Amino acid sequence: MTRIFSGIKPTGHLTLGNYLGAVRQWVKTDQHRGDALFCVVDLHALTVDHDPARVRRLSRQAATLLLAAGLDPTCCTLFVQSHVAEHTRLAYLLECTATDGEMRRMIQYKEKAARERATGGSVRLSLLTYPVLMAADILAYGADEVPVGDDQAQHVELTRDLAMRFNQRYGHAFTVPRAVLPDVAARVMDLQDPLSKMGKSHAETSGIVYLLDDADVVRRKVMRAVTDSGSEVAYDRETQPGVANLLEILAACKGGDSKPDELAAGYDSYGALKKDTAEAVVEVLRPVRERHAELCAEPGYVDEVLRAGAERARGVARPTVDGAYRAIGLLPPV
Ligand code: TYM
Repeated sequence: MTRIFSGIKPTGHLTLGNYLGAVRQWVKTDQHRGDALFCVVDLHALTVDHDPARVRRLSRQAATLLLAAGLDPTCCTLFVQSHVAEHTRLAYLLECTATDGEMRRMIQYKEKAARERATGGSVRLSLLTYPVLMAADILAYGADEVPVGDDQAQHVELTRDLAMRFNQRYGHAFTVPRAVLPDVAARVMDLQDPLSKMGKSHAETSGIVYLLDDADVVRRKVMRAVTDSGSEVAYDRETQPGVANLLEILAACKGGDSKPDELAAGYDSYGALKKDTAEAVVEVLRPVRERHAELCAEPGYVDEVLRAGAERARGVARPTVDGAYRAIGLLPPV
């Protein structure tokens, strides 16, 4: 059976980008077509300046939202990264496999480190080594597939390289995984800045749709989206990034075989496109918000899902990580 692993980082409230780029696939297909594990990767949230109480709150919120979006604990395993020690155990072995040059080439590191430095902040060492922890997340579970948005593809490539290098040096220990990207909306852009990714930890929030935004807030954000200087509705990411982003969001929300370029033909004004996109987003998010409110009233249920999830995850990861400890030359405990 195909083993599937993916994760989400509790550094901010979940966005429409997270949903269309990743979570929707987890819910609709991944949890039904393989042995799927989904993880709230809280350790990754410590790689940047953080507030402990906020990370705790956002971790619980992320788990609750994943359930609200439709992850079904009878079909998949949902857990919190820090509840399973195998992630950090394995990360160290992979730090001994990766090189510092590889780490410094990671685009997300370069961007985030530059942003930290520009605001006078210091860069945590863990921000540099973060992709190694991500590789450990994936390799500990022997994942075949990693469903992610486009921004994580480079990290999955690194994971593949580390798995192959480790296997070559020390004997087969890891499955070499591959990234699986959605057909549309693999990179949802900020509505106010369609050249930047819609990111949950950005300071300026008017171009970001959060899963828990009220319907009126969603409508306002979409109706105020920056469009391009022309007036023709065409799907062209290069020359019309704002319009292309709306068309992708609309296609992804409609689902089925909707294609952004075909949808473009049905519009002769930006206003009509924005209106339909806003309503499509509102309809996609409505059941998620409603279920989230119900689940917030049942914290015991969420706790139990996470407890059982961590127990199962430990059972899956431990033999693989123990095997890697032996392979790399560490004396087994007596
Ligand atoms: P994170 O928390 O930033 O995002 C979670 C998932 O959402 C996708 N995503 C997007 N997709 C399309 N458009 C966007 N604007 C957008 N923003 C986010 C991401 O690609 C991701 O799939 N490093 C990871 C978390 C992680 C992980 C892992 C993922 C840690 N360990 C192991 C997979 C496997 C991250 O920061 O994702």
